[in-house]
Amino acid sequence: MYRIVSGLLAVGLMLGACASEPPEVPLGPDGLPDLVLATGRGVYGEHCASCHGRSGGGGQGPQLNAGVVIANYPNISDQVAVIADGSGSMPSFAKRLSQADLEAVTRYTREVLS
Ligand code: HEC
Repeated sequence: MYRIVSGLLAVGLMLGACASEPPEVPLGPDGLPDLVLATGRGVYGEHCASCHGRSGGGGQGPQLNAGVVIANYPNISDQVAVIADGSGSMPSFAKRLSQADLEAVTRYTREVLS
């Protein structure tokens, strides 16, 4: 009995860990994920998911997934600028993230969360 319960607990913990991770970057034709998008996923999980939701569905911050950011920012550099500068209660990330990380997380929200 103990083994069954602890086995179920382990499965539950594993599922729980997966559930808190942002969506995976799909594999490209070469069988590997785009490294920039993979970097963006890490940045998103660490700095953005707490407010915008694990998959960008929104929360304390607005929804970013399902094409919302592409519709709101047809020009990608305008979206990078919002993340760098902040807006209202959205914090500025210009000092916390490199330009490469800003661009990577922006691409992740547009290409993987959309
Ligand atoms: C402390 C909570 C918080 C965190 C952390 C946060 N945001 Fe935001 N974000 C917000 C809020 C609130 C807004 C809405 C700001 C406004 O109304 O002007 C916003 C707005 C945005 C927008 C503009 C959305 C639109 O449709 O105009 C983008 C893009 C965005 N955030 C991306 C990010 C990214 C990427 C990160 C991580 C690097 C991040 N945010 C981290 C709270 C947060």
